[in-house]
This record gives sequence, structure tokens and C-alpha cells, in this order.
Amino acid sequence: MAGLLGSVFLLVLQTYAAPPEFIQVWPSASTSGPGLLANETVTPSLVPPPGTSKHTPHSIIIGVRKGGTRALLEMLDIHPEVAAAATEVHFFDWDENYSKGLEWYRELMPYSYPHQITIEKTPGYFTSPLAPARIRAMNSSIRLLLILRDPAERVISDYTQVYFNRLENHKPVQAIEDMLVRNGALNTRYKAIQRSLYDVHMRNWLLHFPLEQIHIVDGDTLIRDPLPELQKVERFLELPPRIVASNFYFNQTKGFYCIRSDGRERCLHESKGRPHPPVNSTVLQQLRSYFRQHNRNFYRLVGRTFNWH
Ligand code: A3P
Repeated sequence: MAGLLGSVFLLVLQTYAAPPEFIQVWPSASTSGPGLLANETVTPSLVPPPGTSKHTPHSIIIGVRKGGTRALLEMLDIHPEVAAAATEVHFFDWDENYSKGLEWYRELMPYSYPHQITIEKTPGYFTSPLAPARIRAMNSSIRLLLILRDPAERVISDYTQVYFNRLENHKPVQAIEDMLVRNGALNTRYKAIQRSLYDVHMRNWLLHFPLEQIHIVDGDTLIRDPLPELQKVERFLELPPRIVASNFYFNQTKGFYCIRSDGRERCLHESKGRPHPPVNSTVLQQLRSYFRQHNRNFYRLVGRTFNWH
């Protein structure tokens, strides 16, 4: 049965084409177009809207990868006082980017009006050993957002994302059980499992930031009922309450909430909210029991509990 479900999953997955996650909110620096000579270009982004400027972020969504980071950023972007960055920057965790300096980083941020705050997301930061100290060196009072979801679900979501990327790049793929189990035991060296050890990563952040500066969004709740989680973020960022229930509607086809704002309705990209493969129940139990103590450690670290199995 599991084999049959697995094949169905593979079939479903193969019908998807998942382009890289990218939302363009600002024209690219240089565009050639019809009517222009071959080497002639126009530079629309060099003309910022009057009264706007660029800033390093007031807040960063630091992760976790597959926690719902895109949904969180897009939903915060409903707020008129938020300017959301278009791309994941990887400034603080990739040495080659970090060496380019803060001015390079700032240039990648969106233009914002004086009443707006800039927010970017780079989900890799949460599990990066380098990011906390580097972010602190930039701005020790920055407000950090961390969205987490059930760690076992996150592993499956992580696997699914890598699976799609490999399919797209015509690379061989493996069944999830083959990634999760090595020599009959749980493969705790599998990166997707390591990324779900929230206590381990959180300890590193707490060496550099007080807990009050890191707001944790419950990613499982954000899926079921986004508004209350967003209202908590508004309070944390000291933004006036502007996000309201009518900004969300449930899309039956997608099976997720979508966004209604500025007279437009939009759902997240099809790579968000994909079907997950069925996982052998014994392996899933092993995975869940491996996380149990780590989860308890995490609850103690942050002084609150979550509904993780
Ligand atoms: P799945 O695709 O595994 O379901 P990230 O943006 O950090 O990569 O997280 C992706 C996850 O965001 C998705 O994982 C999905 O469960 C979750 N998510 C939360 N709210 C969503 C929404 N409104 N629409 C689509 N996906 C959403």
C-alpha cells in the first residue's frame, strides 16, 4: 500500500514544474526592450519613487527553512508600513556576500517611505553558525522573526523541496525512507533532520540576542488561521494594527489561505503547499521520538510550548 501511495506521490510530483521561489517587486536594474538598440538599456530602478530610500532591515525573518517564511513575509507585506525585500539575500551566512559589505546589502533592499519598516527573509540564517554574531554586529537591537512548525513535518517538507529541485535539474531522487534510515537506524546526519533540531540552533541565537528580541511565529497555526499570528507580529514590531480578517480567504483548490489586499487576490506560488509523500509509519515514529527530547529542551529555552508530536 505504502509502495502504491509512494508511486502516486511520485506521479503527482512529476506533474509539477517548480521554478525557484522569487517574487519580483521592483524592476531589475537594467532592462533592454523592443525599440532599443541591441546594447542600449534603460535603468528604471535608478529612479526611485520620490521620498523613498533604502535601509538595512529593521526586522529579519531568520527561518526556519520550510517553516512558512514566504507566507509570513507576504502576509506582513499587506501592512502599509512594511516594505518587504524581494529576494533572499544570504548576506550574513555566505562569506562571499558578507565580504561585499553593508552597502551592497542595503542596495538589495526595497525602496521604502519614511513611515515604513524594511523586512527581509533568509531562512538559512536560523541554522547558520555565523549569522547571529554578524547580524548583531550590524544592529544589536534588530527585531528577529522566527517561524517554526512541527519538526517532523518540516523534515518531510524539506525533503519534498529538495526532491522537486532534483527532479527539475534531472538529478536522481531517492525515496524519503532511504534518506531517513541508514543501516536500520534513523539517519541523524541527514541535513533535513539536523535543521529541525530547534533547541541546538536556538541556543546559538541566544548567545547573541535576548529572547525578547526573537519573536516566534507558530507556523502550524499560521497555516490554519493566519490573522492572530500576524496580529502578534504587528505588536512585536510595534506596528499599528492594520492587517484584518478580510485580508485572507481560504482557497479550496490550493487548500491554504490566500491574500486579498489592494483590491487583488493572490495565493502563494505552487511550490508552497505541495503534497507530501506518505512516510512509513515506523520510520515516522522513530523520527518523532528522536525530536521529543529536543522539543522539550526548546520549550524550556523559550518558555513556551508548541503542539508538536
Ligand atoms: P509545504 O509546501 O511543505 O506544505 P517556506 O516559505 O519557509 O519555504 O515554507 C513553505 C511552507 O509554508 C509550505 O510547506 C506550507 O505548508 C507553508 N504555508 C504556510 N502558509 C501557507 C499559505 N498560506 N500558502 C501556502 N503555503 C503556506
